[in-house]
Amino acid sequence: MQKIKLFDPYIDKSEKNAINKVLESHFWASGAGNGYVKKFEERFSKYVGTKDSIAVNSGTAALNLAISMYDIKNKEVILPSLSFVSTANAIIENGGIPKFVDIDENTLCIDPEKIPKLVSKKTRLILPVHFAGLGANIREISKVSKKYGLSIIEDAAHAAGTKYNNKKIGSHGELVCFSFHPVKNLAMPTGGLITINRKNHKKISKILKEKRWCGIGDRKGNDYDVKKLGWNYYMNEFSAAIGLSQLKKLDHSNKIRRKIAKSYYKKINLEDKMKYDKDCSYHLFWIRVKKREQFRKKMNSVGIETGIHYRPIHTFSMYKRNIHLPITEKVGNEIVSIPIHPNLSENQIEKIISSINKFS
Ligand SMILES: Cc1ncc(COP(=O)(O)O)c(C=O)c1O
Repeated sequence: MQKIKLFDPYIDKSEKNAINKVLESHFWASGAGNGYVKKFEERFSKYVGTKDSIAVNSGTAALNLAISMYDIKNKEVILPSLSFVSTANAIIENGGIPKFVDIDENTLCIDPEKIPKLVSKKTRLILPVHFAGLGANIREISKVSKKYGLSIIEDAAHAAGTKYNNKKIGSHGELVCFSFHPVKNLAMPTGGLITINRKNHKKISKILKEKRWCGIGDRKGNDYDVKKLGWNYYMNEFSAAIGLSQLKKLDHSNKIRRKIAKSYYKKINLEDKMKYDKDCSYHLFWIRVKKREQFRKKMNSVGIETGIHYRPIHTFSMYKRNIHLPITEKVGNEIVSIPIHPNLSENQIEKIISSINKFS
């Protein structure tokens, strides 16, 4: 029995050629981000319609760096708990305090109506996640942020190619963070990127470039200066070269994901499942099942991998506080991700649908 994988990168010969080219060039990485890294940044900026992009070596690095551009020491950041733990870790890494807000039960993204109750004198940022590749309600979140004088950094790890309000995600918030982990819609060995939509984007971009390379700046020949702390967060050439191939087919592969999502939405008999949305990139497709462990075992017994995205962050030991997020907790107990990558055959899609209808 051939296993149906939950995630699988969508590749062809172009990625192999790209890797060979880099290998043979002997130029594998540079802290300055020259070569394919620069090319990838330019192409990605054009693709999403943003002023500037800074490539880094993971989505986690993108979040850490983006948040470091705001002084959040002992300040609060509002975020959803239904996310990968990096979203919250990046706040702690920068000395801030995560304030978890409940989600909208239909979209599983942050519920803008619930944000004002959490705003205090210490609040500095809102950090929405475009969950599963569906654009969070940026319009309403922006209204709240303007009212209280807060900034928005978006976690767009799931949202390469997602549209919101006729514009690609990456072109809205002040700083938008992407992940190009191998399971993502745009896959690399590892990778991430920050898009910059601020007026002073040139200055921001210069600072971010220094921060991603150990603080190194003002380079003249072999000389350079270090004025502020930085990290080893730069992207390597292999990732960038693969990313360039992946970017070329991103719209196509997302179209395939959307087609699969349409079938799932129409044919899966469960009430609680992801809706069909023409602008969603469908990094994940989620369903909700009451007897989850039993269901996942049965799916596994017929060769179908499933996942849990995510155990809510506020339930981990490190983040446990006396807070109650009713929708997040209910969803967190029932959510299951099912395969939606572009390598699925028609037969496999039908098998996934009929197995869910049988076992749930
Ligand atoms: C919502 C979210 N944020 C951040 C990240 C971190 O990205 P990376 O794994 O590239 O560090 C991920 C990756 O899984 C994610 O899903």
